[in-house]
Amino acid sequence: MITGFFDSGIGGITVLHEAIKLMPRADYIYYADSDNVPYGTRSRDEVASLAVSAVDFIVRQGVDAVVIACNTATSAAIETLRNRYSIPVIGMEPAIKPAVEKNGKRHKRVLVTATPLTLKEEKLKNLIARVDNEHIVDLLPLSGLVKFAEDYCFDDAGVRSYLENALSAIDPSLYSTVVLGCTHFIYFRNLFRQILPNSIDIIDGNSGTVRNLQNIMRQKNLQESGSGFVTYYTSGRLVENSELLDRYDLLHRMLDLQ
Ligand code: DGL
Repeated sequence: MITGFFDSGIGGITVLHEAIKLMPRADYIYYADSDNVPYGTRSRDEVASLAVSAVDFIVRQGVDAVVIACNTATSAAIETLRNRYSIPVIGMEPAIKPAVEKNGKRHKRVLVTATPLTLKEEKLKNLIARVDNEHIVDLLPLSGLVKFAEDYCFDDAGVRSYLENALSAIDPSLYSTVVLGCTHFIYFRNLFRQILPNSIDIIDGNSGTVRNLQNIMRQKNLQESGSGFVTYYTSGRLVENSELLDRYDLLHRMLDLQ
């Protein structure tokens, strides 16, 4: 069984990482559209067309399923992608439903962080309309974090002051939960943790997405039949450069420590 993972850049490695933990005997293809990252500040049409080219490439490699490990590409293109291929296409969405449910009777608010495109798309508006009956969800775009992640700046003074400054727009005492609604943001979980009070839960949609993938694989009777091997591509080119492969390894090790 081979599963393809797609993201604009390194963000989707956070989802791939969860999948390998849960399904270590499957093989994987990871496609980072590094020539075109970031997606979150582009138009919907641009992102949809980039996503179609990338996923066409992944499907041609003979995968059994594709995970769109990118909230932005999911919001711009998931229906198009599902209609285009006969294999399962699994999307992601910000974990707003679990955040609202978890909030329960705490009478607090939920802050959803994501890219500007994810936050303005119809898909997110529909999700909020479905689950946010008490109007407790607020939105905060954090497109700067994508650039910091792509530059491998995870904990320096620059990113810390960017995030402190962005979060100074909210009164933390009003919130029970912050949702990380972009896969690149997962690398900054510790930084969010350091800046926000401990009473705030920080959640994401990664494990929900991987559980979804597992369920679909079971329904289709697809067995794990590999060794957790990952073949990486950047914008259609096989990654053979050992320096880049070492960087990806470093990301996996960072995620192990979270
Ligand atoms: N990692 C992506 C997401 O989950 C998009 C980041 C970007 O390219 O702007 O939304």
